[in-house]
Amino acid sequence: MAIKILSIEQFNNFNNMKTASSFIILISVFFMVSCSNNMQKSAIPEIEIIPAPVNLITGEGSFAVNENTVLLLNNDDQALKNLVGFLSKAIYNVKGFSPKIKVNNAFDNKSNYIGFKLVADDKLNGEAYTLNADGEKVIIQASKPAGLFYGLQTLLQLMPAELYGDEKSANIDIVIPAVQIKDEPRFSYRGMHLDVSRHFFPKEFIKKYIDLIAFNKMNVFHWHLVDDQGWRVEIKKYPKLTDIGAWRVDREDKIWFKREAQKPDEKATYGGFYSQEDIREIVAYAKDRYVTIIPEIELPAHVMSAIAAYPQLSCTNESITVPPGSVWPITNIYCAGKDSTFLFLEDVLTEVMNLFPSEYIHIGGDEATKTNWEKCKHCQKRIKTEGLGNVEELQSYFIKRIEKFLVSKGRKLIGWDEILEGGLAPEATVMSWRGIRGGIAAVKSGHDAVMTPNSYCYFDHYQGDKKIEPVAIGGYTTLKKVYSYEPIPDELTEQEAKHILGAQANVWTEYIYDGKQVEYMSVPRMSALAEVVWSPKEKKDWDNFNRRMQKQFIRYKYMDVNYSKGTTKVDINPLFSGDSILVEFYNERYNPEIHYTLDGNAPTVESPVYSSPITISETLTLKAVLVDKGKIIGNPSEKLIAQHKAMGAKVVYAELYDEKYKAKAELNLTDGMTGTDSHNDGYWQGFDGYDMEVVLDFGKSLDFAKLSVGCYQNQKSWIFLPNSVEFSISDDGENFISIGVIKNNVPAEEKGIIIKRFKLETELQKANYLKVKVKALKTCPEWHSGAGEKSWLFVDEITVD
Ligand code: ACM
Ligand code: ZN
Repeated sequence: MAIKILSIEQFNNFNNMKTASSFIILISVFFMVSCSNNMQKSAIPEIEIIPAPVNLITGEGSFAVNENTVLLLNNDDQALKNLVGFLSKAIYNVKGFSPKIKVNNAFDNKSNYIGFKLVADDKLNGEAYTLNADGEKVIIQASKPAGLFYGLQTLLQLMPAELYGDEKSANIDIVIPAVQIKDEPRFSYRGMHLDVSRHFFPKEFIKKYIDLIAFNKMNVFHWHLVDDQGWRVEIKKYPKLTDIGAWRVDREDKIWFKREAQKPDEKATYGGFYSQEDIREIVAYAKDRYVTIIPEIELPAHVMSAIAAYPQLSCTNESITVPPGSVWPITNIYCAGKDSTFLFLEDVLTEVMNLFPSEYIHIGGDEATKTNWEKCKHCQKRIKTEGLGNVEELQSYFIKRIEKFLVSKGRKLIGWDEILEGGLAPEATVMSWRGIRGGIAAVKSGHDAVMTPNSYCYFDHYQGDKKIEPVAIGGYTTLKKVYSYEPIPDELTEQEAKHILGAQANVWTEYIYDGKQVEYMSVPRMSALAEVVWSPKEKKDWDNFNRRMQKQFIRYKYMDVNYSKGTTKVDINPLFSGDSILVEFYNERYNPEIHYTLDGNAPTVESPVYSSPITISETLTLKAVLVDKGKIIGNPSEKLIAQHKAMGAKVVYAELYDEKYKAKAELNLTDGMTGTDSHNDGYWQGFDGYDMEVVLDFGKSLDFAKLSVGCYQNQKSWIFLPNSVEFSISDDGENFISIGVIKNNVPAEEKGIIIKRFKLETELQKANYLKVKVKALKTCPEWHSGAGEKSWLFVDEITVD
């Protein structure tokens, strides 16, 4: 029998075909094969699975669900029954009938069934599954119910998206294309976090969030239950934690960082908490969806809500109220000197462990400012009796003591990367959030790590143009950026890499007020991270993912999820080709319609539609805008391309720019485009604690008398102007002669954002090469909050005239 089989690569290519001609050839091959084999008449749905499975082979024909279709189990395990319950309900939602469920150990039905088969195989990853569909049946097979659950998620994605909704529709055929899928996750830890302290979300929403996690084949819900602004878990032994700690004065009409503390005559009315009964219900709900809930009980900082309830937990015993908004720095923390603090925490953790079966218990550990510990007699005594060197080591003592307690109860400690400071607890797992260094350090010292670097995994960041998006905490982390994340740092050996358990996205809710907004910030970025942590690295393909996302959006629509459609920003990117300066317009949405102008006028829907890179040969301003369904959406982007003699010159770096602020990479310094007052606008190139030294290769002898380099300062973001810029010239690229040094003349105390061009005017020079050495400050000065730490140097353009 001739079967049309596409490997996943061919499948990807097939769906990626850009040129019409090759597309038509493939389509006709498809029809030739189909017709000659008398394929079923009903339309075979496209296969659009997220996260992409490891291995997928399309077969011929399809399986259609009808009223006689049986859901077959080879085992009467309750877990399996729950699982087919999901499928039965989804079918009922659309068709109005529920297929019969049948347990049959021999699994010997002939046809018209969807079978779930548990097989004994110790070697199989418990989350792995196979799914085989042909014209007669569908069989999902795994060694554990979790694998069957993921097989079911895939099966649902092979079915019409309407199954995710609850509107009956007789004319929707449930047709499953013939496929053979073999699949398993790349990482064992695939997490989503939610902060329910900064804003409280009701139980029903938490369940929906768990549904979203499971839908994306993720398996951990990191529940941030404790923070300064609210204690959210009922603890029977300490009722004031929720009687007092769960409530704050209502300042929801004010922006987070401008909220005044509670006044003596005001009542704390805003907040909420989960009863132990709620928690048990949610834990069971998550278990049925193969999601482990890791509770986070913050310590020693981010606990003002607990201190408001029990002031004796702090060093000062001072009575406080639950803060309704931002607190920075966080100095009001648990006293590490009093034994009563540890007794309290052991009691709390005991109740928490009774509620949450998770092996991991998250203890926070982040952002403690330990000034009170410096002054506290109890803390100082502890430092002395324990032979500790300083307050960092006191925090380490704190965490180690908690770890010992958790380990004695058969649990494991996980904490934010600050727990590395002062010495890591012996068996702790590190959650690396301040970039990836914490994760690398943990793994290099033999510990496990979960990666959640803020520049890729903080879903409280903007995902589109700040000017039109709902107010968020900052950053700019688009869907594509999340998709580009690779959890295994280059620095690790293969052996070390095994200690990276996976990755997680964090949803902090200072600026997220309700469930709908949580959905907007998490979806669809959650789907991008899902593919990062599930699918094999070599299968990652943005264009293909972006195409599959179009189907995922429809599923989200049926799930009634308030998803984001992604950034409306049009990037204006240089693309050099030979001697020509080309520019492309780019927006990461699928098949974006971009209209542009070159004459400085605002683009309209009538302006030309962008189709391919544009050659630029004069100084001009480019403007471009995204159009959707005949309407402009978002703000236009614009960029001046200012011609100079070194446009397109090859640039060789002594040490490359930082990956995080690569801007337009090797093209950035000679593309005629300069940066704005926003350091992450994609035009400023960053150097983290080192000089920028580059050589421009003109490829010919060039005359010039005016040189300049643009630099940026924003001390608040740890970005400083350089000390000086030196220009040198050469004819052979090896022997350089200095032609001038420009020193920085901006006084150090000048605050705010400064863009400064370091300019040199000389007599006429003639050279093939120009070396530009920008001497960075390298570390933040004494007076700065980052004193002694690496400072940034930001550069946009080198001009030559
Ligand atoms: C964190 O974002 N403070 C872990
Ligand atoms: Zn103390």
